[in-house]
Amino acid sequence: MIDLRSDTVTKPSRAMREAMASAEVGDDVYKEDPTVNRLQKYCAELFGKEDALFVPSGVMGNQLCLNAHTQPGDEVICDKNAHIFQYESGSPAMLSGLSLNLIDGKNGIITPEQVEPLIRPTSAYYMPQTKVIEVENTHNVAGGVVHPIENIKALKTLADKYSLKMHLDGARLWNASVATGISVGEYSSYFDSVSVCLSKGLGAPVGSVILGEKDFIAETFRKRKSWGGGMRQIGILAAGGQFAIENNFAKLAEDHEKAKILAEHITELPNVEIDLSLVETNIIMFKPKSMTVEDVLQKCKDKGLLLGPGGVGVIRAVTHLDISFEDIESTKQILSEVFGA
Ligand SMILES: Cc1ncc(COP(=O)(O)O)c(C=O)c1O
Repeated sequence: MIDLRSDTVTKPSRAMREAMASAEVGDDVYKEDPTVNRLQKYCAELFGKEDALFVPSGVMGNQLCLNAHTQPGDEVICDKNAHIFQYESGSPAMLSGLSLNLIDGKNGIITPEQVEPLIRPTSAYYMPQTKVIEVENTHNVAGGVVHPIENIKALKTLADKYSLKMHLDGARLWNASVATGISVGEYSSYFDSVSVCLSKGLGAPVGSVILGEKDFIAETFRKRKSWGGGMRQIGILAAGGQFAIENNFAKLAEDHEKAKILAEHITELPNVEIDLSLVETNIIMFKPKSMTVEDVLQKCKDKGLLLGPGGVGVIRAVTHLDISFEDIESTKQILSEVFGA
């Protein structure tokens, strides 16, 4: 099976497993796991933040940050298709008593002109209080679209004007950085908190890292424990993450190249709608016009290709470490057969 459902389906390589198996460990609840401490220090330096915290998942990373920035009854402004709204089980409301004020962003990009009118006046005691502007980079539902740095800078200026916090869901910030050449540190400098995933394109089996100032990370450390996320000898997991950053970060360029090759082929298929200009990283979204999404997924599966749904009427294909250029050629062949090209 060629599995293009997500970049989370990668399996740890032999070398990664060896790094994990030989990791030095200690009790991380006592902050005594040297491999976790090393990863956190390494990430803090890489992202130019004072401190970092290893967490089990991207959802926990995002939600810990939102929780630490807010009080129940506060509000977060984000795109209508933000992962924190669509795919985190309602946890802003459930875990932190937050409401989300949604923007109809264009391909996941929210502009200061859209955000400013939604910011609640602090004098309006009867309204929720705006505390955070959230950005997702790259944007999953938009198809791995990179958030332009100039827009991020403008959002940061707006956030400063109203004393709001900026949070970055950087599950795939690595991809944005490789696609643009802008460092993860430069991106992070406009945000009070950043959450990045190790278990997506980088290919680690588990883990995310959140980044921020020392006091902020100390607060998230306390909250992680209260949410049941205090873990013990997790150096074996952190070693996978460390290996992933050091060895697989630069390789994302290949994933982007594979996505481009595949997307270009899809433009040539009959009865398919695709916007090639949105394929900036490793995610491809396309719409079949003469078949249902379910039909296409099943026909592809019967031929040895797994794709996933990407929203209403949309199919998603994601390239990753475990997909070779030969797999891309086979995928093109299968899609041609399914669409009768
Ligand atoms: C943009 C984005 N943020 C956060 C997450 C959550 O990550 P996790 O599945 O590790 O909780 C995902 C997962 O796909 C994602 O795509």
